[in-house]
Amino acid sequence: MAGSDLYLVYHGLLLPKATHSEESLKYLENFQVKDDDVFAVTYPKSGTTWMQEILPLLLNGGDLKAVENVPSWDRAPWLEETRAPVVLDKLPSPRAIVSHMQYNLMPPSFFKSKAKVIYVTRNPKDAFVSSFHFHQMASFLEDPGTFEEFTDKFLSGKVLFGKWTDHVKSWRNPELGDRIMCITYEEMLQDLHDALSRILKFLGRELSAEALDRVVHHCTFKNMKTNKMSNYSMVPEGVMDEKKSPFLRKGVAGDWKNHFSPELDAKFTAVIQEEMKGSNIRFPWDKE
Ligand code: A3P
Repeated sequence: MAGSDLYLVYHGLLLPKATHSEESLKYLENFQVKDDDVFAVTYPKSGTTWMQEILPLLLNGGDLKAVENVPSWDRAPWLEETRAPVVLDKLPSPRAIVSHMQYNLMPPSFFKSKAKVIYVTRNPKDAFVSSFHFHQMASFLEDPGTFEEFTDKFLSGKVLFGKWTDHVKSWRNPELGDRIMCITYEEMLQDLHDALSRILKFLGRELSAEALDRVVHHCTFKNMKTNKMSNYSMVPEGVMDEKKSPFLRKGVAGDWKNHFSPELDAKFTAVIQEEMKGSNIRFPWDKE
């Protein structure tokens, strides 16, 4: 796969040059994972920003100060991005870290560690729609073309971080045992309180009922949208143009139904189903 002015290619995957560099990828490869690090791993547009809000709050006992004063990308930095070397080494433990990397591209120290992973999956049709709008508003991403053109790119993996199916399958690796918790964006949307309680249990941590309620309230779409430390309003308009599409756009499940024709839906479903065949991975939206 060839790179472009905007993208570099890393192990066959396209990454935006605006936020990734050879140095940042070297940093990723040499990164020393600590046993108490907590990773939130996602395919792009599946709830990363949401987890950047949630995880530090669950790890700090529900203290809202951090999320009111520190931008989301510095509270829970992306492991592979250029900002990581600037902030990650200074973060107090336990560190919340996010990543879009496929399992096999995690740093060697990750595999030797006991660090836990929360893997968030979103209906690929909604992740795709979200990505389409994101490509229209972010000047550091290639123009997505028409909806149909972008579908072809998505299904063939010629998009950021490759194919959705490869990403999802890579993380369902039995080697991880009980170090990984898989949750869907849709489950979080349906009952955030329950989702956060389960994440806390997985992490072996507790919050008072009052603190948990506070975190749940703070992390709703409506409240995150007004938090300038989380809504990307600090990013200059020339980089992300909120007038074209807000970064925190709709925050719902099933928006794909407003975008897909029956033909496109059939094609999309067939490709995903074929690639997931034999994997034993099932999602609630498979029946839709
Ligand atoms: P939409 O474009 O469908 O609205 P990522 O952070 O991985 O880039 O994912 C972005 C998607 O997550 C966007 O989806 C965004 O609105 C949604 N999102 C962010 N915070 C959310 C929240 N608190 N509740 C629901 N969805 C949220």
